[in-house]
Amino acid sequence: MSTKDDLTIRIGGEGGEGIISSGDILTQAATRAGLNVLTFKTFPAEIKGGYAMYQVRLSNEKIISTGDGFNVFVAFNEEAYKVNKKKLTEGTVFVYDGNGTGGFEPGDLPGVVSYAIPMSKIAKEDLGTYRSKNMVALGAIAHLFSISFKSLEEIVTNKFKRKGDDVVSVNIKALHAGKDYVEKELKKKDAIELSSVEAKDDIIVIDGNEAIGLGALLAGCNFFSCYPITPATDVANWLSKFMPKVKGTLIQAEDEIASLGNVLGAAYAGAKAMTATSGPGLSLMSELLGMACMAEIPCVIVDVQRGGPSTGLPTKHEQSDLFLAAHGSHGDASRIVLSCDNVEDCISLTVEAFNLAEKYQAPVILLSDGSLGMRKEGIKRPDISKVKTLERLKYDPSSNGDEPFMRYKITDNWISPMSIPGMEGGAYVATGIEHGETGAPKYTPDNHELMGKKRFEKIKNVEDDLPESKRIGDEQADIGLIAWGSTQGDVTEAVNRARAEGLKVAALFPKLVYPVPVKAIEKFNKTVKKIMVPEINYQGQFADLIKAATGIPVIKYNIYGGFPFTPNEIHNKIKEMI
Ligand code: COA
Repeated sequence: MSTKDDLTIRIGGEGGEGIISSGDILTQAATRAGLNVLTFKTFPAEIKGGYAMYQVRLSNEKIISTGDGFNVFVAFNEEAYKVNKKKLTEGTVFVYDGNGTGGFEPGDLPGVVSYAIPMSKIAKEDLGTYRSKNMVALGAIAHLFSISFKSLEEIVTNKFKRKGDDVVSVNIKALHAGKDYVEKELKKKDAIELSSVEAKDDIIVIDGNEAIGLGALLAGCNFFSCYPITPATDVANWLSKFMPKVKGTLIQAEDEIASLGNVLGAAYAGAKAMTATSGPGLSLMSELLGMACMAEIPCVIVDVQRGGPSTGLPTKHEQSDLFLAAHGSHGDASRIVLSCDNVEDCISLTVEAFNLAEKYQAPVILLSDGSLGMRKEGIKRPDISKVKTLERLKYDPSSNGDEPFMRYKITDNWISPMSIPGMEGGAYVATGIEHGETGAPKYTPDNHELMGKKRFEKIKNVEDDLPESKRIGDEQADIGLIAWGSTQGDVTEAVNRARAEGLKVAALFPKLVYPVPVKAIEKFNKTVKKIMVPEINYQGQFADLIKAATGIPVIKYNIYGGFPFTPNEIHNKIKEMI
């Protein structure tokens, strides 16, 4: 990239116009050109209509956040222009569907470099299909910003080949039509060029949902069951392609309750099993979550969070399922909750989730979110040889002599050997009812207290199983931020900017969010004057969990409009708080 080291291109239009496809193709083309990419997309809950947006941030450097806005905006229609008009400030480049039938005229935009391209007209009148409008736009953008046309043609061919040769052919024509229009009719007025640097062949472009699927297979997952739900379905879509290759089983169940039921059955029978859902699905699973805890069955439950409550904002971003993940279910139901920071982390933390589930024979909830689940990043191909997997403590049939198998035997670390159905002498009944050491029902006060304690004590030190929480910034700071999940990137960028201005700031990024990592937070607290917790929910859920577990009076900073933080927002808040 010659003229800009950090460039964001945003494409906006109507759901159904192929905004997402355009963004995906642009992302792949940029990666082939050797650039780092990080994307963000948002669209309405309806299948057609409403404002849809796809944004690609590109850089020669590693990118950690979606950033503050865009440098180039491509508007497919007037509504998209109106939504983004305020951000079309001096120096931005504006490409829009203008200068022809179906287009619009935005009026005067001082300081903005504008290019009107009759996308709708070319698609409808010259190519005979409005569907190809997005490829006209891509062809035009490619020529304007020097994106390799050859790789664009290859990607478009690959993308549409399942729809038939005619579809491929008209879209290739559309790319050329957009390019030709720019060549003949427009004069380049900006300095942006995405010239190729050396393409790296060890880079893969995947999104957070696919990365969780990949992490699961690396962890040895051989059973997956789910019920489709936005924005988690792509975990299943990805696994449906690859699960057969590891001879595993994937079942689309009739609902989320059945999904977790399937998972618990499979895990009881020895499989490494996972389900993936979003908030409403996790709510439905809360009864069986208690059973996983009670019967001590290892399982991984992925929650790709979306805006709630109820059906809420299915396609929008929120971090508001933390209370549900930490406390949902009746009775004292213990569980471990982890949260993913970025796409790479979705791979390694999924492996970690399986390892913890196996080690502690407990449900592990892995939190991701809409923006991370649908975010594509170019990441280094994972080194499979470095993946470490753990297996549950298995019952050894030769160890018992004449004693009956004690599935819930009280041991020093509260973890008991688990048998697999069919093991000689290993039969036991796994139910949701309180039980004694053999698994047989037992309701005495002493026993319930002992078994309740067992289920919590075994995970009490889970914080020590994970690498120390990442800490950035000044060793002694005026303010320390504690961020969880995908806010990490925006917080990192904000902290770097604040420190560049001479402010003393630090941040801590725990991956374990429940049980609250008390040791890491207390250690961090000793190095900062006050703590702020930025999170995308109304209540300040992690802030409350931290206060309850540590007594530290943290300051809440919350937004909940359906979008992630921008680094700018957090940077301004840091300045305000200091
Ligand atoms: N030529 C041929 N086909 C094209 C094309 C072109 N030039 N451009 C796009 N398409 C196809 C895509 O391949 C895709 O087809 P597919 O459905 O067979 O995969 C389809 O047109 C939609 O295009 P796409 O680019 O993927 O999306 P979009 O930007 O038009 O936005 C969505 C549409 C994705 C936002 C919308 O359909 C959707 O799914 N909304 C969310 C619904 C939801 O999750 N609701 C919540 C329920 S609780």
